[in-house]
Amino acid sequence: MGELIRSDFLVIGGGIAGLNFALHVADHGKVNIVTKSGLTESNTFYAQGGVAAVTTEEDSLNNHIEDTLVAGAGLCHQDAVEILVNEGPQRVKEIIDWGVAFTKKNGSKSEYDLAREGGHSHHRILHAADMTGAEIQKTLSTKALKHPNITVHENCIAVDLITEHHVLNNLQAAFNICFGAYVLKEDEEKVYSFQAKYTMLATGGASKVFLHSTNPDIATGDGVAMASRAGVRIANMEFVQFHPTSLYNPGGKSFLISEALRGHGGHLKNGSGQRFMPYYDKREELAPRDIVARAIDSEMKKKREECVFLDMTHLDKEDVKTRFPNIYNYCLKETGLDITEKPIPVVPAAHYICGGIITSLTGQTSMQNLFASGEVAHTGVHGANRLASNSLLEGLVFSHRAAMKVLRKRTREFHNVFIPEWDESGIIDKYEWFLLKHNLQEIQNIMWDYVGIVRSKKQLLRAERRTYVIFEEVEEYYKRSKLTTELIQLRNMATVAFLIIKSALRRNESRGLHYMQDFPDSNDKFLKDTIV
Ligand code: FAD
Ligand code: SIN
Repeated sequence: MGELIRSDFLVIGGGIAGLNFALHVADHGKVNIVTKSGLTESNTFYAQGGVAAVTTEEDSLNNHIEDTLVAGAGLCHQDAVEILVNEGPQRVKEIIDWGVAFTKKNGSKSEYDLAREGGHSHHRILHAADMTGAEIQKTLSTKALKHPNITVHENCIAVDLITEHHVLNNLQAAFNICFGAYVLKEDEEKVYSFQAKYTMLATGGASKVFLHSTNPDIATGDGVAMASRAGVRIANMEFVQFHPTSLYNPGGKSFLISEALRGHGGHLKNGSGQRFMPYYDKREELAPRDIVARAIDSEMKKKREECVFLDMTHLDKEDVKTRFPNIYNYCLKETGLDITEKPIPVVPAAHYICGGIITSLTGQTSMQNLFASGEVAHTGVHGANRLASNSLLEGLVFSHRAAMKVLRKRTREFHNVFIPEWDESGIIDKYEWFLLKHNLQEIQNIMWDYVGIVRSKKQLLRAERRTYVIFEEVEEYYKRSKLTTELIQLRNMATVAFLIIKSALRRNESRGLHYMQDFPDSNDKFLKDTIV
């Protein structure tokens, strides 16, 4: 069995939110970062479009606030949005000072090349060509690895938060407090107890619960599932953002075609070569994502086509290659398509979970000493639909605020509790791989078919019935099987799928990303968060 590892701060997740938090607290105490894969394997690494922030006189903070609120379709928390936008530029400046190299305008030493994406009224997106996330991830990871107070534990997956259910003494005094997390190191077949004065959950998204997703395999909703098991409050899980344009490449890996291509002048066309967005919204290709994704879905259904096309062929070819080198090379290498010569086949895919663990404006969850930040959190900034490129910004702004908060309230002592080793009694066997794979595919298919871009009560109820059976089956296997990363993730995905369906069933209206065929209009009765 694994031993006890203690530190002032435990950070679960090594993407933008986890690393930024760690870097801000590390001068004040020991930090353990656990990440279930390699340090650079995160949604952050794959971010393409960039970080939205107001950095020029032509734009204004009010414009960015207004754009965020409009995209959010009435559910954004105004105070959170104001913080995001007002503090964003300082946080962006900070990572530039740490070495993040955003692309500058042609020939300029100081002026940044600002992109525009759907729902933005101005050019305000800082980017590093079309590999913004990789640039940020590498810079922050390098800085964290050099810090003497930070220890990074790669390939270590958090299994569950340590709460009063686990500790053996002082039960009364332990109520609703997080003491750290149990973490599986699979190559050693050991579960370690990571005890910390403060725990930061920064485990990212959950879009892998859908069959088609832009996310890497790590996005299995572990943080939300762990929090939910520990009784922590969670909100708005029904708002799943489907990115309009993921590369249509049957049998191939999922790959995002950034919204920045539309911001650069790309046109969406159906199989007959007709541009269709002007018929759906006056903002055309740059309407917010929910509108574009639904328009594509409707075109595909109307024409019974497998995909639509994003056409860049009318634009300057060299300019497209220079601005989007990663996308250009990927399409050429993986599918033989030269995007300057032929339109790119695209389909919507699950991309981002707007809901998550409810936090205060300083990252505090409903459990003492447990903080959350990044995609796993619900700060209130995204409402019913996230504005493009606001996610990396949210990860920076709110993880920084959480860091400032814990530094203000910092205690010297660990809680006086005894943390027992992980209990393996009752374990009979190793979970059969084929069962696990079957359950996983079932969840992903159900979510894609019944809980997708267009929903209905009947479909959601069917999804609820089926996922509940899977959920119970997985829980039973989990209790008697040896822990593996795959089993932990499957268990979490079953939980998250169930939370998304439950939340969707409560919202009998259409708003932002949640579109119900049987309730096609918004209804002010539902102008509130869905809390589970
Ligand atoms: P992540 O970056 O996903 O990091 C999560 C970390 O948690 C990882 O290290 C993971 O290994 C770890 N982890 C998860 N579960 C466990 C566990 N149980 N135990 C231990 N570790 C765990 N947003 C923008 O603002 N601009 C963009 O241009 C943009 N482009 C995107 C492009 C793509 C292809 C994708 C997928 C997303 C994009 N997004 C973009 C969204 C944005 O990248 C993410 O929302 C953001 O990076 C999330 O950061 P995070 O720190 O919360 O989580
Ligand atoms: C993209 O580049 O289109 C992704 C931007 C985002 O998700 O914010």
